[in-house]
Amino acid sequence: MPPLPWPEPQAAVVRPLVAWYRRAGRDLPWRRSRDPYPIWISEVMLQQTQVERVKDFFRRFLERFPTVADLAAADEAAVLQAWEGLGYYRRARQLHAAARQIVADCDGVFPQTISGLRALPGVGRYTAAAIASIAFDQPEPIIEANSRRVLARLAGDDRLLQGPQADEPLWQLAAELVPKRQGAGRFNQALMDFGAIICTPENPRCTACPLVAACQAHQQDRVAEIPNLPAARSIRQLQETVLVLRHRGRLLVQRRQAGEWWEGLWDFPRVLPAGVVTSGRRRLGEVTYTVTHHKVTCRIVSLTVDERPRPGRQERWVRPTELTELAMTAPGRRIAVMIASLP
Ligand code: ADE
Repeated sequence: MPPLPWPEPQAAVVRPLVAWYRRAGRDLPWRRSRDPYPIWISEVMLQQTQVERVKDFFRRFLERFPTVADLAAADEAAVLQAWEGLGYYRRARQLHAAARQIVADCDGVFPQTISGLRALPGVGRYTAAAIASIAFDQPEPIIEANSRRVLARLAGDDRLLQGPQADEPLWQLAAELVPKRQGAGRFNQALMDFGAIICTPENPRCTACPLVAACQAHQQDRVAEIPNLPAARSIRQLQETVLVLRHRGRLLVQRRQAGEWWEGLWDFPRVLPAGVVTSGRRRLGEVTYTVTHHKVTCRIVSLTVDERPRPGRQERWVRPTELTELAMTAPGRRIAVMIASLP
């Protein structure tokens, strides 16, 4: 690790950053308590979802599962349903499994050490350090997209940040800066807010930045080049047809299988199941959605089923009103809403 570019990092970076945070940091719902449970939920939600979108999901999730014991006692289907719209459902399953583990193995008490936290399903280096610093004020550094950008610019680190190893020097830099006696959680959240509000990816507000004097990227006039990130993957276009199969007022839904997008969630079929005989084909419309590097245009076709075999294990014939109770994929939910509004 190269030496820090500041003779006095506390005075150059940490204190002005924390002072800025006290003034301008965001008032976010998960910052109102030091209870590790809501902090954990928020950190998991924030891994792939923007702060503004997370706020409402966070409030609703905590209303539904106020404690780790409530979450552990819930059915997986209920947890998935509360997660609907956040995407990346593996996170919800792991959250549920971790809650059960905390209740079964730790008497419902949240682990307070990094190794105890990392033993929970779905809790990796980032989440463990976020909980340890924010809930327990342990001097653990964290690197996520915002803090990575702020630190890379402050240090003038122009290496290509590709692959997890590339972040290692930034974790070390964060470890040197994070306050050791108190205020670790505050410092970590200050870095994230600073990246979200001042040191933004495009058009950073350097004229309003209290850290310009310390910022190597700014001094070298390379703010636009740092962080040096790999080019975004290109988006592929796909087309598909969704079948809304109707039989005596009921609709066929199927569960997504392992290895498919939205594993375990319910959706309308893309392929006519064997043995189903249909008539009355009708175009209902189109929805487009994006999912991990794909933009999918999805034609919706309604068919009346004259004869239907027994449903498979991962299939159900449901009344349209029952769709509200199922955890559905994002396109599945949009199609369900579309069907409900049809005359
Ligand atoms: N992104 C991830 N964790 C966060 C937090 N605690 N506050 C704001 N943004 C975040």
